[in-house]
Amino acid sequence: MKFFLDTANLDQIKEAHDLGVLDGITTNPSLMAKEGVKGYDAVVNHYKTICEIVDGDVSAEVLSTDFKSMIEEGERLAAIHPNIVVKVPMIKDGVKAIKWFTDHDIRTNCTLVFSAGQAILAAKAGAAYVSPFIGRIDDSGWDGMELIYQIRAIYDMQGYFTEILAASIRSTNHIISCAEAGADVCTTPLDPLLGLLKHPLTDIGLAKFCEDAKKFS
Ligand code: G3P
Repeated sequence: MKFFLDTANLDQIKEAHDLGVLDGITTNPSLMAKEGVKGYDAVVNHYKTICEIVDGDVSAEVLSTDFKSMIEEGERLAAIHPNIVVKVPMIKDGVKAIKWFTDHDIRTNCTLVFSAGQAILAAKAGAAYVSPFIGRIDDSGWDGMELIYQIRAIYDMQGYFTEILAASIRSTNHIISCAEAGADVCTTPLDPLLGLLKHPLTDIGLAKFCEDAKKFS
């Protein structure tokens, strides 16, 4: 399973990159706004900087919701860097746009996916990635992880090549469960990723080793 960081924060991207396990980045309009990135030139520069730090796919989301504007916007985003993947919402015009991008060799990430039916449509349209939002499904009282298992089973059965990019990650356990469920990618904020490092017995064991090392060094 690949690790993507779900942020537009450059310091966090550098920190995850330094760990040596970062495979890519996903962003969305909310994450870009959080970093205070404003205006077309600033957005382009921000994506360029991310692509310079990370050698992997970087999802950049269109802001429009109609077919024609999504195509124009997506073409501009894709021209920023070869690693840019155009992120398109799961709406009727979005599916049409994904098919258009697929036919024109522009890779897409179909976002805001909350059902197996939506994931089938994204795959049929040729999306490189499909992004089921498991945390938001959990938040609304359903089981987000169940959706990852269901999409995995359907994609394997049907031979779809679209990669399952589990998004809206809320915890370290979500990451582990995504790996168990066969997600191709897990995009996470930094904290749940760093949570994978932690175990109290590791800290206790290391303290003892360091203590004992003093006896013979
Ligand atoms: O990037 C899309 C997704 O990961 C959003 O997550 O935490 O806003 O539900 P969240």
